[in-house]
This record gives sequence, structure tokens and C-alpha cells, in this order.
Amino acid sequence: MSECKCTCNQDTEIEVFLPEQLAQIDAIVAKYGAKPNYLIPILKETQETFGYLPAQLQRYIAVGINVPASHIFGVVTFYAFFNTVPRGKHLIKVCTGTACYVKGAMELIVKIESELGIKVGETTEDKKFTLEAVRCIGACGLAPAVLVGEDTHGMVTPGKIMDILRRYE
Ligand code: FES
Repeated sequence: MSECKCTCNQDTEIEVFLPEQLAQIDAIVAKYGAKPNYLIPILKETQETFGYLPAQLQRYIAVGINVPASHIFGVVTFYAFFNTVPRGKHLIKVCTGTACYVKGAMELIVKIESELGIKVGETTEDKKFTLEAVRCIGACGLAPAVLVGEDTHGMVTPGKIMDILRRYE
């Protein structure tokens, strides 16, 4: 897959991914019969494998299933669960739903941003944490609530949040 068949007019050379990594994408695409109808599961599985969907991978998949790269870009940017930049090892999701907001979610965000030196949507330099602000995570009784990976932490205060994060290596 070195020649771009789509309409994006972009170079399809993949510089940051190794041949064996591209072979993994080939396997995912083949598993779904290289059919455009399966674009979402193909993208999901690719993201699970690589952690994110950079433009190079989007173009590679576009060639593999013979659709314009612009179409894939549109899908990736439409759905919030797709990422185009690498995430940290631990994803911090601060709930900013109503219950959490009124109980201090924004103070938590300010504290995390200042302690980790990142803004919402960014990842720490050591790739340990990515910070996100999200809507209700269904733990309103524990407001303000923070998810770190799969773990829910409730009634979090600015004084407690760094102790919680320090548990994650
Ligand atoms: S509003 Fe935060 S968990 Fe529901």
C-alpha cells in the first residue's frame, strides 16, 4: 500500500510505523474484508492496537479499504472516542456534569492542570497522564467524581486529587 488511491493527494509513505505495525493494520482490514461498511470497527480496533489514529494511519486504512482519506478524517473527528494524538498511560476524566460542576469540578481541573503542567486535552511530557473534562459519568452521588482509567474516585477535593494520581505509576 504505497500508492495513494484516494483523493487526498497526500503522500502515503508511513515513516513512523514499522512494517510489522502496518502488517497489523493489514490484518485488521483483512479481518473485515477490506469493506468500507466496517470502517468504524476497523478504526476502533486500530486505535486499540496503536492507542491513537494519526493521519498516517488514517491514510493507510483509506488505501486499504479504498475510500477517500478525507472520509476517514471526517469520521475520526466526528466521534469523540477516536483520538488523533497519543494519550498518556492513564486517562484522567474529570466529570464536569452539573452535579460535579456545582461541587467543584473546575477547581479540580485547575489543580490538576497546575500540578501536571498540562491543559485539558493534553498529555504530560512523560506520557503518564492525559487530562480530559467529560460529561456526567453516572456517579453523581459521589460528586465531584473523577475517573482515572477504569477507576472511579468520588468526593474528590483539590487537596486529595494529587494523592490519588500518585497511586498511578
Ligand atoms: S454529574 Fe458528575 S457524575 Fe454525574
